[in-house]
Amino acid sequence: MFLVLSLITCCVYIIYLIFKKPKNLPPGPPIYALPLFGHLLHLGKHPQETLMKWCQQSKSDITHCYFGQQLVIVLNNYSLIKEAFMDDNYSARAQPFIFEEHFHGKGLTYADGERWLIHRKFAMDSLKKVGMGKLFLQDTILDELTDVFSVIDKEEGEPLNIKGLLTHGLSNIICGFAFGQRFSQDDKKFRHIVSLIEECFTLGSHDSWITIFPLLRFIPIRSLGGNYKQFSKNFKQIFSFAKQLVEQHNTDNDGEDKDYIDAFLKQAKNDQLSQKENSTFDMDQLISSITNLFIGGTETTSTTLRWALVYMIENAHILEKVQQEIDQYMLIHNNNQLYVRMEDKPFLPYTTATILEIQRCGNIATLGGSTMHRNLQNTTLNGYNIPKNSYIAANFYAVHVDERQFTQPYQFDPTRFLSDDHKSVRRPAAFIPFSIGKKSCPGESLANMELFLFFTNLVRAYNFHVVNKNEQINSAKFYHTSLTRAPYDFYVSFSKRLY
Ligand code: HEM
Ligand SMILES: *[C@@H]1O[C@H](CO)[C@@H](O)[C@H](O)[C@H]1NC(C)=O
Ligand SMILES: *[C@@H]1O[C@H](CO)[C@@H](O)[C@H](O)[C@H]1NC(C)=O
Ligand SMILES: *[C@@H]1O[C@H](CO)[C@@H](O)[C@H](O)[C@H]1NC(C)=O
Ligand SMILES: *[C@@H]1O[C@H](CO)[C@@H](O)[C@H](O)[C@H]1NC(C)=O
Repeated sequence: MFLVLSLITCCVYIIYLIFKKPKNLPPGPPIYALPLFGHLLHLGKHPQETLMKWCQQSKSDITHCYFGQQLVIVLNNYSLIKEAFMDDNYSARAQPFIFEEHFHGKGLTYADGERWLIHRKFAMDSLKKVGMGKLFLQDTILDELTDVFSVIDKEEGEPLNIKGLLTHGLSNIICGFAFGQRFSQDDKKFRHIVSLIEECFTLGSHDSWITIFPLLRFIPIRSLGGNYKQFSKNFKQIFSFAKQLVEQHNTDNDGEDKDYIDAFLKQAKNDQLSQKENSTFDMDQLISSITNLFIGGTETTSTTLRWALVYMIENAHILEKVQQEIDQYMLIHNNNQLYVRMEDKPFLPYTTATILEIQRCGNIATLGGSTMHRNLQNTTLNGYNIPKNSYIAANFYAVHVDERQFTQPYQFDPTRFLSDDHKSVRRPAAFIPFSIGKKSCPGESLANMELFLFFTNLVRAYNFHVVNKNEQINSAKFYHTSLTRAPYDFYVSFSKRLY
């Protein structure tokens, strides 16, 4: 009797699943969704590549698939991403469990609706006030660079993994914005926090699927649930570090806001005084926002710079041309200037194009589960129905290797970003490493400044060669996909250049 009953229940459930499937969805992958798991187990080590393949097989750049029970709509070309991300109906954020559990829909990245609007604008305004997007910020960045260089010099040609060094320096710039303070390169406690952030980016890999299907965390299979605990623990420590700094913050707030916390606390006070009923300026919001800035603004740029080293090691002739362009320009025009500065950028087109090509090929923003979008109501896209609360994933990787947009996309070739006479830089619309639309990366101008100053001055000051023992660095294989697409750790030996 019991057996029959459960069989019937099973059948009914399966029939329900079949008929529940919404009508007129975008084409699906060539593989059936498993019950409960969906396509999760078929995504492989690099989901962005698998999904691109599925799209090619179904001959449609828009597909659907299931991460667990969650319907995900994958957009694989520029025009689809533009259509969706320029439309406010798609500007809510997916809420993966591993982030939701810490942010509770607060902060910048995981807030939606009115809260997001208010705080995105507030963050942009107050960060601009303390220097973001302004030329004077470059002196702060160059100070950090000086510190990084002094550590490199101390190592004197010894094998060096510059990941921690770079992330530390770049974190300091966010620290300046957020807390009005920095931490020296030999501050062990801060370096530990930096390493926790870095670790989160690699731990996020398979576990980001937990995010979509939280029950998986109770299954003791390492690739499914193992990393989750560490990830969660790291996040708690990062939050408590941010909280500590907020509490220690000196708020003798007379006049100008020195940093983001100043501005935030002032607004909170104003809200209190005017007895605003639903003020969103509370402690949790502040700490979540700061953590978002940290997570969004450090590993991303540092990973891009590590890709820069990988591509420069692999393409020595291009590195040589970059160095030549910088040397020549600086010798003639700025011979007594210690560093290459933002003002020099218009005169260094080949170098600038090389940085763009590094970003195009590096593709650090994956659909990885951390910044997918969500639609809040039923919509249609490209003639297909998109049911509300679908996750919308932009496959930036697919866009940047799309032959219709970039000829010979697997070739590393900076000249694709140059005008015909090679005298100026041209940026095709389909080059979108920071995404597009209202939710696109708020740190774009800062990241561009950091990338330019760090890259140009690093290759100007040093030659480098890789000293990994066992593995050759090969940009086509030497990477992992987690929250970002990043090269594995590698060791480089630097030697000073004469210029
Ligand atoms: C090379 C460096 C970087 C890359 C490639 C990058 C890329 C991205 C991408 C693709 C998104 C998702 C946009 C979307 O949902 O459509 C994003 C969001 C975000 N990024 Fe960046 N980013 C970088 C650096 C930074 C920096 C330096 C900051 C710090 C100021 C930052 C802070 C953020 C924040 C707070 C969000 C969430 C925005 C929101 O939800 O409103 N990022 N970034
Ligand atoms: C959204 O679409 C689903 C079917 O895909 C339908 O059942 C539901 O009623 C629609 N909701 C609204 C608000 O139109
Ligand atoms: C993008 O994909 C859609 C859906 O497959 C297709 O209709 C459209 O032509 C594509 N756009 C470009 C520029 O390739
Ligand atoms: C409070 O929230 C409601 C609805 O969310 C909104 O309409 C109203 O403008 C808010 N009030 C203030 C003072 O922000
Ligand atoms: C998107 O939202 C606007 C209003 O916010 C609405 O008028 C429009 O119909 C929506 N589009 C779709 C496809 O649902």
